[in-house]
Amino acid sequence: MKKIVLPMALLAAGGLLLTGCNPPEKVEAVKPVKIADGEIDPGEWGKAYPVHYDLWKMTEEPTEPGKSKYKKGFDADNITYDKLSEFPYMALLFNGWGFGVEYNEPRGHAYMLKDQLEIDPSRIGAGGVCLTCKTPYAPKFEKEMGYDYYSKPWAEVHGMIPKEHQELGVACIDCHDNKDMSLALSREFTLGKALDVMQVDREKLSHQEMRSLVCAQCHVTYNIEKDAKNKSAGIYFPWQGSSWGNISVENIIKQIRSDKSVGEWTQTVTGYKMPFMRHPEFELFSRDSVHWMAGVSCADCHMPYTKVGSNKVSDHRVTSPLKNDMKACQQCHSETPEWLRKQVFAIQDRTVSMMIRSGYATAAVAKLIERVHELQAAGTAIDQGLYAKAKDFYMEAFFRSLYIGAENSVGFHNPTEAMRILGDSTAFAMKAEGLLRQALTKAGEDVPETVNLELDKYLNERGKKNLNYQEGVEFTDPFGVQDRLVDVQLNSSK
Ligand code: HEC
Ligand code: HEC
Ligand code: HEC
Ligand code: HEC
Repeated sequence: MKKIVLPMALLAAGGLLLTGCNPPEKVEAVKPVKIADGEIDPGEWGKAYPVHYDLWKMTEEPTEPGKSKYKKGFDADNITYDKLSEFPYMALLFNGWGFGVEYNEPRGHAYMLKDQLEIDPSRIGAGGVCLTCKTPYAPKFEKEMGYDYYSKPWAEVHGMIPKEHQELGVACIDCHDNKDMSLALSREFTLGKALDVMQVDREKLSHQEMRSLVCAQCHVTYNIEKDAKNKSAGIYFPWQGSSWGNISVENIIKQIRSDKSVGEWTQTVTGYKMPFMRHPEFELFSRDSVHWMAGVSCADCHMPYTKVGSNKVSDHRVTSPLKNDMKACQQCHSETPEWLRKQVFAIQDRTVSMMIRSGYATAAVAKLIERVHELQAAGTAIDQGLYAKAKDFYMEAFFRSLYIGAENSVGFHNPTEAMRILGDSTAFAMKAEGLLRQALTKAGEDVPETVNLELDKYLNERGKKNLNYQEGVEFTDPFGVQDRLVDVQLNSSK
């Protein structure tokens, strides 16, 4: 069947040129082949579905450079991009544990376990629990081992995976039912429980919703629960108080700040024990984004229909739509790839502009808190009322900034919500800064107009190189922060 783009597009004149809410091209029905129960090896599944297997394998290929602006995770130019050097304020804020040492942009699904083997060991310190989103063996281990799965050292649990699969990433069984290839959730112990918390009637989930939920097994934020011995004892998605289509950052922050069992790390600059947030793609996307409301799913944009020989299939080379020349978008939008790409960049540039503002505002507050702690340690009295309020606002600012920084679409999944969250983050940070300035002034401290962030203390080598930092050389704006802000503003007002 030929794609009927034009007539539909004309009907949509005035608004966006759309060809329909669901991709018009459907794949040919595959003849389901029953795969043996419990078969994890994608090679075995691949014997029945060789075309899908080959596409799935391609997530190990580097992507073509120059197509994505912010997600150059594994382009063929062979540079590993990391958030800490791209956004130096993160190096300051995350200093104190693994994420402050190494925080690389994501790459293909084939690498999820390989990257854990290569990453700084501090990133997998929590134990076996870190394998939850990295190996198709996780559900089996969790079921059989319970507490030991979470708490035992990462290397020990990893060693239990059969040799030939110790580097295997997401597998067919993570998303499919072996009986009929329908979509199925493999992680009852995480996503399953989280859906129950929101009282989602799973019988009523639509096919489109399942095309997002298989991804939501991993592309969400989660908490690792600790027991009295500070061992990992469980994992959960902080969706308490939220509902389907309405998982708010406010509810998540409320949950992680009030659950004392999830204190995970100590932030160096403030000395605070903190929880953390990871990649909340599903949460941000499903909170009333234009695409979610239009019934679009993760798979529509990241697994578009594609032709392989005479087969029309869902593209199992899951990647950024920008790296696939906007083909996913063109299933529904009839604009040119250039136009669509520009739209994505415009949204991302605006998000980054606000994210940098909120990040640096939060970092400045962290340094003022550090100063307060120094003075207190030296015996100076600090107004505790002002300090407590400032600390509270700082946390609110920090988590909002962290949320959007960890979300992997740089705002695209829900542009207006991302801007709202970053605006709130900046406002909380400003409020905290004002209160701390008042407290410090009251204590006799002369607070400078611009807070010195001492970024060179926190940046990794890559970050220093990225920003042309030179030991002992003084710059007026050593980290190009101001330049970057101006640049972003100019870009987005073009
Ligand atoms: C079992 C967990 C898991 C599931 C299920 C999963 N992902 Fe991922 N995904 C990951 C991890 C982990 C990474 C990062 C891998 C790395 O950087 O080593 C990733 C990376 C990605 C990337 C970046 C790829 C690139 O080329 O840079 C995209 C896009 C993506 N996932 C989309 C999806 C979509 C869409 C779905 C659902 C159809 C999905 N994922 C299902 C865990 C998962
Ligand atoms: C309307 C299209 C659309 C939908 C729907 C969508 N995404 Fe995306 N996604 C994008 C775009 C565009 C980017 C930015 C890619 C870039 O900058 O290269 C992105 C980025 C990502 C990335 C980072 C990719 C990389 O290369 O590092 C991940 C992971 C991701 N999305 C997962 C998801 C998940 C999970 C869902 C569903 C909860 C989802 N997306 C829904 C369009 C979409
Ligand atoms: C990250 C999740 C994910 C993984 C991993 C995955 N698939 Fe899929 N697969 C999907 C989604 C989503 C669809 C679309 C299903 C739909 O709309 O009903 C799909 C569809 C299919 C279909 C139906 C035809 C089509 O192209 O839409 C087959 C067959 C298939 N996958 C085989 C495989 C095989 C074989 C593997 C392993 C080598 C695999 N899949 C791995 C998510 C996944
Ligand atoms: C499955 C169909 C589908 C896919 C795939 C899709 N879109 Fe959309 N898109 C829509 C619909 C439907 C709307 C809402 C249009 C409306 O109601 O005016 C929309 C709206 C938009 C808007 C306007 C958003 C706003 O805030 O008003 C932009 C920009 C956009 N899409 C870009 C993209 C890009 C870029 C991609 C690929 C990464 C993409 N879309 C993929 C269906 C799709």
